[in-house]
Amino acid sequence: MNMDARTLMTELREDHRNMTVVLDLLDGLIEEIDADKDPDFELFDEIMRYMTVYPDAVHHPKEDIVYGQLREARPDLTDDLDHVPDDHSDIAHLGSLLRDEVEAVIAGAAVRRERMIEDAAAYVNRLRNHIQWEEKDLFRRIDKMLEADAMQIDVSAYEHIKDPVFELEIEAGFRRLLASLR
Ligand SMILES: [Fe+2]
Ligand SMILES: [Fe+2]
Repeated sequence: MNMDARTLMTELREDHRNMTVVLDLLDGLIEEIDADKDPDFELFDEIMRYMTVYPDAVHHPKEDIVYGQLREARPDLTDDLDHVPDDHSDIAHLGSLLRDEVEAVIAGAAVRRERMIEDAAAYVNRLRNHIQWEEKDLFRRIDKMLEADAMQIDVSAYEHIKDPVFELEIEAGFRRLLASLR
């Protein structure tokens, strides 16, 4: 399905709302680890798997293309944008570290609680700050560009890729995550 640029921006904002809901769940798990409770590590693992297959693999690359087109078409609107691709790769890196730790715990390895709390908190903070910055700053620049010329972003190559949790609801892959969202 092809789309126009405004639909694309609506999707990116919708993704942010969904990611925020998932990060809230992750915060709850961090609190449980911190309180020495027995958190649901399978849920933790599903969350990190979701982050890898959708935000890292679909949402961020889509944004990178939009930002690239902004840079090209409106250099006057691109002050301070140089760190964006780094943000995306840093977030993916922090996420994969965390996912490895969670998988190690599930496999029975000893991972220090303090370390998990620290790494999970670093991940959540980094991603939340990034989303906030995009909503408050970067997306507004894109809106400005689109207000001036809606055709400025070439969306002909975009395919809508469905979010496996919020759109497809694949029970088998994300059973716990879906149950936690209901
Ligand atoms: Fe982003
Ligand atoms: Fe984003």
